[in-house]
Amino acid sequence: MAPPRKRLTVDKKKDADSPETKPKRKDSRKASGISQFKWIFIVFVTVLLAVAAFFVLTSLNKQDSTLNQKPEKQTVVEERETSEKPKKKAKKKKLVDPLTSITNNFDKSILKELNKAQSFLDKGQIKDALKKFEGLVNKYPKSPLAMYGKAQSLDKLSEMRQSNEILQQSIHAYGNVIDLPDCPLQLKHQAMRRQADRLSFLGKIGQAISTLKKLLNLFPHDLKLMNEIGVQYLLSGRNRDAENIYNKVVNMDPSNGFAKSHLGFIIKTDHLRYKEAIPLLREGIASGETGADDGRFYFHLGDAFTRIGKPDEAYKVYEEAAKKGIFMSALQRSLYNADTPLTARPWWAPEQTGYLEAIRKLEGNWKVIRDEGLEVLDQKSGGFIPEEENLRQQGDWKQFTLYQRGRKNTAACRKTPRTCAIVDSIADAASCKRGQIKYSVMLPGTHVWPHTGPTNCRLRLHLGLVIPKNVAIRVGHETRTWKEGKAIIIDDSFDHEVWHNGSTFRLIFIVDFWHPDLTPRQRATLAPI
Ligand SMILES: *[C@@H]1O[C@H](CO)[C@@H](O)[C@H](O)[C@H]1NC(C)=O
Repeated sequence: MAPPRKRLTVDKKKDADSPETKPKRKDSRKASGISQFKWIFIVFVTVLLAVAAFFVLTSLNKQDSTLNQKPEKQTVVEERETSEKPKKKAKKKKLVDPLTSITNNFDKSILKELNKAQSFLDKGQIKDALKKFEGLVNKYPKSPLAMYGKAQSLDKLSEMRQSNEILQQSIHAYGNVIDLPDCPLQLKHQAMRRQADRLSFLGKIGQAISTLKKLLNLFPHDLKLMNEIGVQYLLSGRNRDAENIYNKVVNMDPSNGFAKSHLGFIIKTDHLRYKEAIPLLREGIASGETGADDGRFYFHLGDAFTRIGKPDEAYKVYEEAAKKGIFMSALQRSLYNADTPLTARPWWAPEQTGYLEAIRKLEGNWKVIRDEGLEVLDQKSGGFIPEEENLRQQGDWKQFTLYQRGRKNTAACRKTPRTCAIVDSIADAASCKRGQIKYSVMLPGTHVWPHTGPTNCRLRLHLGLVIPKNVAIRVGHETRTWKEGKAIIIDDSFDHEVWHNGSTFRLIFIVDFWHPDLTPRQRATLAPI
């Protein structure tokens, strides 16, 4: 059968374009004794059929891209079933041919050999599969599926051996697939998607993007593909490009939840246009689409409500996310958490931490720490840098960081050597890869929006150094203030908020400790934040 005909057998409605209907139409035109009513009716039916055909084609295209999501293995297995099972099933299979097929005519002729190699891959005998597929590539250099099988085998082998070098070979082989003559479109799709995914995994995001863009030329209406390109843009910090592509997707498909969430996220965090971001984030989340209801989107939807003065709406969002297990609770909204449960309370007494000795040492040396801090602050020699996370509603809040992510900033420590020497003796703080050690100065008239830190893996100590009247910090439901020479300990993964209604600056020293429940192994392996 010629390819166009096959496609037309997909659905009866398609008959509008099929050879069977066209003659009929001609015949009816020729019929001279036909009444006007009948004529209108025929035109009507023809138009109807054409419209139906359009929708079928569109839905086929969609189906096409849905099928891409299937593991590659499955498709080959299907192909195998088709070739082995009697006609009834084969006929049904043909319905999705050739749009979704990854097997060209040549590969059909060597399907038995391909499936044999594939069976090794399916059974997890990767080295044997690779050998078989390499043999096939040599024997049939023009076989797209042989090359694809080789690419997949290398892909799996690289995972097994954790070898970037083999992964590179796999990426290269995926690239070869698409250059082979008569490579089925669907196979190109699978090979390029995987190639882009692996490139991104290796951190070669620019190359991943260009692969995906090439693919988009072949499937210009593939919204999933456009969404993925947006993700890669975001990963490489090209937020404007991401915004553009998500805008396009939302224009093409106003109900696309994935694109809406991501667009809302960009509009909220980059442009601070809260009112515009809220419906996008809300509808994106509500779509329930995979990837559209990520914790970050709840986080920023709630925060957007807070910023426009609707805290009740914010907490509704947080409650909803907590119910879904996205946040640990409406008040504890950190997203980079330990994979084991940790004691969770907003306020900690020094005795509860297991770090009592260290805490007493910091308190005992508070004047040394204060004086060094004041020197850095007074010099105004570029020491204190503005807070960068857009957490202030108003006012001035600056920090001077000595350690972050478990690393000492030696240049900063040269300005506060005695303080750093004290900290160096406190390993549970100095080595805390998910925290910082820093001075924090806040000027009168500052209000810090309710917010949460990124992780539950740390406890945050505040040592009061210069504390005027009318300053306060709320963590969870409890509001307290600082005292000079005294430490308070909070879990900043809980909702907290700060006010400075006083008239002179406030200075504290912040020391993050590993959460005491974390094992040495966790402390050693957790990714820095
Ligand atoms: C600071 O002022 C704000 C606004 O007037 C008020 O809501 C808050 O409770 C005050 N906090 C303190 C600690 O004075």
